Amino acid sequence: MKISVFGCGYLGAVHAACMAKLGHDVIGIDVLEEQVAQLSAGRAPFHEPGLPELLEEALASGRLEFTTDASRAADAVVHFICVGTPQKQGENAADLTFVRAVTETLLPILKPGDVVVGKSTVPVGTAETISEQVHEAQPGAELLWNPEFLREGFAVQDTLHPDRFVYGFEDTDAGHRAAGVLDEIYRSALADGTPKVETDLATAQLVKVAANSFLATKISFINAMAELCEATGADVTSLADAIGHDARIGRRFLNAGVGFGGGCLPKDIRAFMARAGELGVDQALTFLQEVDAINLRRRARMIDLAREVSGGSIVGRRIAVLGAAFKPDSDDIRDSPALDVASRMQVQGAVVRVTDPQAMDNARKKFPDLTCVDTVEEAVADADLVVLLTEWREYVALDPVALKEQVAVPALIDGRNCLDPVAWRAAGWTYRALGRP
Ligand code: UDX
Repeated sequence: MKISVFGCGYLGAVHAACMAKLGHDVIGIDVLEEQVAQLSAGRAPFHEPGLPELLEEALASGRLEFTTDASRAADAVVHFICVGTPQKQGENAADLTFVRAVTETLLPILKPGDVVVGKSTVPVGTAETISEQVHEAQPGAELLWNPEFLREGFAVQDTLHPDRFVYGFEDTDAGHRAAGVLDEIYRSALADGTPKVETDLATAQLVKVAANSFLATKISFINAMAELCEATGADVTSLADAIGHDARIGRRFLNAGVGFGGGCLPKDIRAFMARAGELGVDQALTFLQEVDAINLRRRARMIDLAREVSGGSIVGRRIAVLGAAFKPDSDDIRDSPALDVASRMQVQGAVVRVTDPQAMDNARKKFPDLTCVDTVEEAVADADLVVLLTEWREYVALDPVALKEQVAVPALIDGRNCLDPVAWRAAGWTYRALGRP
C-alpha cells in the first residue's frame, strides 16, 4: 500500500521505517531539512535500538523515502499524522500547531478513497474537528484515530508487534471501509492475534491519555509509598515486590525512585487536566495534580538526601551524576529527572559532573553550563558523592569494589533503586536510596 507519514520525529520515523518493513511503499515527510537528510542517509536522529538497521534495510529496499516536499504525499492512499503535541509554553495544555499545520497541508491533496490516520496524542475533540475538515475538503476521504503506545527504547518492537491496536472511527460505511484499509496495513500483526479494539473517535483519543495517566499514577503511587517508607524505616522495594505479586496490581511500573520524565507522561497528564477543565469535568482529574506533585517532590527529596549524605551541605561538594536520559536505552532528555536534579544541585553550589552513555550531546546542548563528561571514570574521579539517576545496564553492573578506588568518598545515592545495597555496603560504601532504610 502507498503510505505517507507526516512528521518524522520519534513516532513518525519509527512508524515510517516499520511500515516499509511490512512491505508498504512509504514516503516520510517532515519540515526539518536536517532531519530528512539524516533519515535519508540511514541515520536515526535519536538513539533507538534497532532503528538504524531497520532504516538501512528499508531504504535499500527502495520502499522508503524521506522528503520535505509534502506534494509527494499525493500518490499515497493512506496518510498518517505523526507530529508532536508538546506542552504549550507556560501552560498545561497541548500545543496543536503541528497537527493543524499537517492538516492544512494534507486537505488539498486528498483523493476519494484516501484514509487519514491520526496517531499523535491529542486532546479529545481534535479528531472530530479534523474529521469534519477532511469530509469538507474531500467527501470521499475518511479519518481514523489510531493512537500509538510505543515506548522509547522499544519503539521498533512496539510498532511491529504492539500489544493492541485501537481504531477510532465514525460508525458509517465509509468509517468501516477505512478500518478495513487499516486492517490491510497491519495484516501481519493482526494475523498473529494482536487484539484490536474498534471504537468511536472520542474513545480512541481518550485511550491514549488514559493509559499514560494510569502509568503515571502507578509510578506516583509507589513513590508516595516511598515517602511513607522513609518516614517509617520501611523498604519500598520489598513493598512493591509484595503488592506486585497480586495479579490485580502487578509488579511492572512499581519502581520507586526519582520519578517519571520524558516527552510523554508529564505533558500528557497536564494536557489531560487542561482538557478536562475545558470540558467542565476538571474534578475528575484533580488527582493527576497530585500525581504530578508527588513526581516532582521526588526530585527535591533526592537533593535533600544528597545534602544529608554530605553532612548538611552540598556547597563545594564534587557530585558525580550517572545518567542524563529520562530513562535507559534512550538519548531523550525531555523533562529528564536526572538533568533536573543535576542542574539544581549545581545551582545550589555543588560541583557537578554528569555522564550518560548516549545523552551527552543532547545534555550539552540543552544545559551548556553543566559539566558533561563522556565516561564514568571522568565523572567519579575524586567525587565526594555518586548519584545514580538513570538505570543504564552498565551502571547497574558497576563493581562497587573497583569504583571505590576512584572516588574521594565512597558515598552513593541510588535514585532508581536498581543496585544491591548489601553488595555496596559490603564494599564499604555509604549506600542510600529513596524509600529504603
Ligand atoms: C510512555 C508510555 O509507556 C508509552 O506507552 C507511550 O506511548 C509514551 O509514554 P516512554 O515515555 O517511552 O513511554 O517511557 P516509559 O517507559 O513509560 O517511562 C516513563 C518514565 O517513567 C521514565 O522516566 C521512567 O524512568 C519512569 N518509570 C517507569 C519509573 O520511574 N518507574 C517505573 O516503574 C517505570
